[in-house]
Parts: sequence; C-alpha cells; structure tokens
Amino acid sequence: MRKTIIVSNRLPVKIQEQDGAYVLQTSEGGLATGLGSIYREGNNIWIGWPGQFIDEKKQQDKITTQLRQMNLLPVFLTEDEINSYYEGFCNETLWPVFHYMSVYARYVESNWDAYYQVNQKFRDKVLSVAEPGDTIWIHDYQLLLLPGMLRAEMPEISIGFFQHIPFPSFELFRLIPWRAEILEGMLGADLMGFHTFDDTRHFLDAVARLLPAQTSANVVSFNDRAIVVETFPMGIDEKKYATLGMDPEVKSNMAQLQEAFKTEKMILSIDRLDYTKGILQRLEAFEQLLELYPQYVAQVVLYMIVVPSRDTVPQYKQLREDIDQKVGHINARFRTLNWHPVQYFYRSFPVEMLSALYNFADICLVTPMRDGMNLVSKEYVASRINNDGVLILSEMAGASKELVDAIIVNPNNVGAMREAIVEAIKMPLEEQQRRMKLMRQLVAKFNINHWVELFMTRLKEVNAMQQKML
Ligand code: UDP
Ligand code: G6P
Repeated sequence: MRKTIIVSNRLPVKIQEQDGAYVLQTSEGGLATGLGSIYREGNNIWIGWPGQFIDEKKQQDKITTQLRQMNLLPVFLTEDEINSYYEGFCNETLWPVFHYMSVYARYVESNWDAYYQVNQKFRDKVLSVAEPGDTIWIHDYQLLLLPGMLRAEMPEISIGFFQHIPFPSFELFRLIPWRAEILEGMLGADLMGFHTFDDTRHFLDAVARLLPAQTSANVVSFNDRAIVVETFPMGIDEKKYATLGMDPEVKSNMAQLQEAFKTEKMILSIDRLDYTKGILQRLEAFEQLLELYPQYVAQVVLYMIVVPSRDTVPQYKQLREDIDQKVGHINARFRTLNWHPVQYFYRSFPVEMLSALYNFADICLVTPMRDGMNLVSKEYVASRINNDGVLILSEMAGASKELVDAIIVNPNNVGAMREAIVEAIKMPLEEQQRRMKLMRQLVAKFNINHWVELFMTRLKEVNAMQQKML
C-alpha cells in the first residue's frame, strides 16, 4: 500500500527524562499540533527527532520500538549535532534571518556543514522506509536541503515541501552565505507551500535572482523539472477547540479561573519563548496602559504563558531574563495588596488548561514581531463559541492576512498596542460578536483537514504533471 511519509525536525511527541526514566510528551509548536492527527492513518509514518539527546544504543532501540507502534520513526541526534545543526544553523542562522532579525544571526561554516550532514541523516532515514509510489511531505526550515537530497536518490518520487516560518525578502535572504545551495535543496520538491502570498513571492524572487532558473507565475523551471510554488495558509483543528469547552476538566479549570478573577478583565498571551514573539514590547504596552489609564489598575490582568523553548541559545536565555525583569518591574510598580497585574507562567500547559483560558479570556493579545502563521490566534477564535471576546493581532503574523476582523496592530508601535487594548476593553458586545463571528466562520472553513487535503491534492496533480513531462 502506498504511504505518506511526513518528515520534520521534531516529532509530534518528545521524550523527556523523569526520575531516571524516559516518558513521552506532546511537543509544543504549531507544526506538531497541526499535523497531529494525520500521521496516525494507515501505514503512514512521521520521521523526526524525539527532542532529547540519547546516547545509548540499547535505549535508542527501545525508544524506536515504542515509537514505531505510534507510526513514528526517530532520528537520533548527537550532542554535537544538537549544538551545531539545531541550535547553531537552524536557530542562530535561519531562524533570525527568516524572521527579519538578521542582527541575531551568526554565519558559521562548521554549523552549515552540520546542517548538511544532518539533512543527509534524515535522507538516509527516509530512504530506509520509502518505496516507489510513496508521497513524502517535508516540513520547515530545518530540512531545506532534504528535498534535493531525496530527489537525487529517487527521481520519480512525489515530494512536497511546506515552510512554516516566513520566507524573507531577497535583501534579507541574500545575507546567508549558502543561499544558492539552500534554494537548490528546496527545489528538489514538486510542490512548495508557504503560509502567505508574500512568502511565496519572496521565494520566487530569490530563485529568479540567485539561480539559473526560469520563473513564470508560480512555476519554477529548474534542472529540467517544473516546480509549483503556492500559498496554503495553515488552519487548526477547529472542531477540537470549539467543543473542548464542554470537557469536564476544561469546565473545572474555567470554574477555578472564574473564582480567581471574579471582577478583572483577562488579557491572554501565549507564546513559546522567542524574540520573534514581541513579548517585551507587549509588556511595555501593558505597563503604559496601567500608567496612562490608572482606572484599569486592579481591573485588568495580563495572563501570560511563555513556553520554554531553545533556552540553550544565548538570545533566548537573555530574553528569558529580560522578561523576568520586566514582569517583576510591572508587578512591583502596580500591584496592590491582592492584585498582581501580570500573572506570568514560564512553563507549558495541557490543552485542557489552554482551552479554559481561551474560553475565559476577554482579550487575546497576539503581537509577534514576525510569525509564519500563528496558531494561537486561530485557537482563541475557534474557542469563542459565543462569539464574544476580542483578538488583537500583529500585522506581522501570517494569520493577520486571514483574521482581518481582529484589531490589527503594528508590534513596533507600543502606543498603538496600548490603545488597541483600551479599544478592546471598551468594545461593545455587538461589535465583538460581529467580528468574532466572521473570524470563526473563516477558521472553521479553512481548518487543518482542509489544509492537508488541499496540499495533498495539489501535490498529486503536480506529480502527475511531472510524470507526463518525463
Ligand atoms: N501550545 C502548547 N502548549 C502550551 C502553549 C501552547 O502546546 O503550553 C501550542 C498552542 O496550542 C499552539 C502552538 O503551541 O498550537 C504554538 O503555535 P504557534 O503557531 O502559535 O507558534 P509557534 O510556537 O509555532 O511559533
Ligand atoms: C515553530 C517552527 C517548528 C518548531 C516549533 C518549536 O513552530 O515552525 O518547526 O518545531 O516552532 O520549536 P522547536 O525548536 O522547539 O522545535
């Protein structure tokens, strides 16, 4: 039977050490949550890193057996690879440049070498299970070379590639010394997908400027192959969030929130620890709100979840310290005897708690400096089955191209964010409902199943076209 092989750097589950034993946990991040249900079908497989350094061969075999029962196939990374490929090239070169924060980028030759070698490692793992007729769907910036590497080994296999983070404009992308190799790697795919039209356009522009390739509309002709490049904004499991509110555990969490925040309006903020998420700027806007509108002191609370992420990378470590400091400063400055303005959590939460918060919060404040899509904003919308609540959304998030009925803000404009919070607090219920209803319809229609179906159908069509051309 033909199968689909999903490949991403991170598996949808991660291994964590607890009291000397290894336990499996769901991974955070949009990709893992988004594709969660797909890989379990039939004999499909998801190949990726289980998120933990495991040295011992015996342990690796044990984990592999356990994961295989869940249609997962692990790629184990050495400590060196984690340092130079994952933390180094992926998160200190590609991540900052692709998110327009090139001042944070380091261009280290040995990290590039590691990136190349780890992509080869993934190639070998895919080749160990791939058969003619299978479909391979590769995800995200950690594996940009993999499509090309697989194409060299299996010229006729169907390969899709989707990038979950932005693709920057040419002036940013050109900064990367290995830019041409990266594009060539990506062009091993038959179909390439991005979240927004801008990302798609930027990619086509980079190809046209850097490679001996022809681009016409959304098709690239390169090495005697035609590669289709299109925009597929990713959706979420809308039904899950729309119905989670009925879950007894979610209800009990909501009752506790109700008890804890009897009178205050709750502003919710949920992100991974990341300098792209605009967390400090958001805190600044909240501080200004309390300073310039003292009537809101003890009337609003910022419930802020920051999920630990990449905290061995220096900038992330620094950001964590800066957030601690800023939260401490705001709380010390404005707190009263029994009210803390910022309720800050540096940890992840189970979906039952996230859902309770999405259901409970009056306002959801999502203000990244750059974000490929941002699923948190869509999860908030999907949870608001009464159509109330206000979403404040950064124009730099891919989601802002779809959720146009949010209050859209420029995250560099702290004053505008502050005023957006005031507008949200004051927004009449009817206006909230008018906006939320429109956004809910959109999130319901363009859900995760729709996204997967659209991409896979298109991939089939493109592959059929390729076969005719051979
Ligand atoms: N999330 C999670 N646990 C948490 C907080 C968030 O699993 O404690 C999930 C959240 O539900 C969302 C994802 O992490 O699906 C974050 O995706 P998003 O696209 O917003 O940002 P990314 O982390 O991919 O940059
Ligand atoms: C974003 C990226 C994913 C990544 C996730 C979590 O969603 O697009 O590729 O898996 O962040 O980051 P991490 O470095 O922990 O895998």
